[in-house]
Amino acid sequence: MASHSTTPGAAADVFRVRGGTPLRGTVSLAGAKNSALKLMAASLLTDEPVELEQIPAIADVPVMAELLAGLGVEVALDSDGGTCRLRAADPHFHAPAAAVRRIRASISCLGPLVGRVRRARLALPGGDQIGARGIELHLQGLTAMGASIIDHGDELEIIATDLHGAIITLDFPSVGATENLLMAAVLADGTTVIDNAAREPEIQDLCRMLVAMGANIQGIGAPTLEIEGVERLTGVRWETCPDRIEAGTYAMAAALTGGDVVIERVRAQDLTMPLIKLRAAGVMVEEGGSSLRVKAAGLDAVDVVTLPYPGFPTDLQPQMMVLLTQAVGTSRCTENVFESRFSFVDQLRRMGADVQIDGHHAMIRGPVPLHGATLAGLDVRAGAAGAMAGLVADGETIIEDIHHIDRGYADFVPRLQALGADIERVRADA
Ligand code: EPU
Repeated sequence: MASHSTTPGAAADVFRVRGGTPLRGTVSLAGAKNSALKLMAASLLTDEPVELEQIPAIADVPVMAELLAGLGVEVALDSDGGTCRLRAADPHFHAPAAAVRRIRASISCLGPLVGRVRRARLALPGGDQIGARGIELHLQGLTAMGASIIDHGDELEIIATDLHGAIITLDFPSVGATENLLMAAVLADGTTVIDNAAREPEIQDLCRMLVAMGANIQGIGAPTLEIEGVERLTGVRWETCPDRIEAGTYAMAAALTGGDVVIERVRAQDLTMPLIKLRAAGVMVEEGGSSLRVKAAGLDAVDVVTLPYPGFPTDLQPQMMVLLTQAVGTSRCTENVFESRFSFVDQLRRMGADVQIDGHHAMIRGPVPLHGATLAGLDVRAGAAGAMAGLVADGETIIEDIHHIDRGYADFVPRLQALGADIERVRADA
């Protein structure tokens, strides 16, 4: 079982990858990062115990635990069992800035604090450097629900003494804004409608857990959510949904290397578009009950366009781009969610990839042989994509700044090693 007690992200560690081995074997995955962190934040909504299972052993989880502890939540993270027990008997409103700044998901405490405490104060969150990542949609929605916002410069304070339902139409189906407004609305007075809501499987997971806690939510999985506020929520025991992005990453790594891999604890229905694209690229994908078998021998060019769910996920775009460097023909990849998500392309080019960028469109010509390089400063998904590129590159690839990969992928190196990859975590000077 994955362990939270490793020392992921020690600054001097790097991944050393040597290419050439097709991945073979079975990999079993834990819960989704982008669900687990929100489910942890949702514990703020009740004074009763919340027990979460399948919490992934990623570096962002203890940071979220520290943040919640700083808000007065009792948190017990079981490193070996993947469980997290939380109890927010009497949370306070001011989040500790150091933990807030370390993870983007800290913004997910905003909605639950406003819902439960009617007040929240927190610094602007950290996370990946993949674009502006504003929060105006979160704030506009909360304002429509009766909140006032005080700008303290480096921190924002939200006061919502009279938190009431509202009809909110989001400009864009923002994952974070949908989650925050939902978590405020479940304890607001009256009915809130969130139109153009995000529909990601992780949001559906959060909605279902909230319903199990006594919330009244209609339209789960649809673009319009209707939430009737309730007086209080109860405790819950909940299993985090599987990580579709992690599953997609291993599927693409298997296909890229011409391997044959079974991925366990997957929900294929959460991966509809990535699987359509993999199949279109000539990859054999067999769906079992909760597993996927991915096998490839040769890849064809395909076009992908990132969009909010159920579109192709931006969190799989860098990995798909690496795969397409080995596909026969010209592929086009359009990024619509994060403006800076092509920033890793420069590093991919240094490995020999033929990728031309025009605004938010990329043109990838393949197949071209990749050669080893040292890659630095990549975000969580681009970091994983860089390691994937190393799996098919000639010679040695070094991935620096691996704390980013540790934020989102549990046991990335041991899992790839178990599939036969030549990858290791070493000190930079080794
Ligand atoms: N946006 C705004 N203003 C807002 C809200 C969003 O401009 O008020 C913009 C963002 O700047 C961004 C886009 O809208 O360009 C998407 O933002 P969204 O709110 O949908 O995403 P998020 O909540 O910031 C989550 C995941 C991301 C994932 C996106 C899209 C978490 C902690 N993060 O981010 O995950 O890419 O949804 O699916 O859940 C990752 O795991 O690698 C990752 C970056």
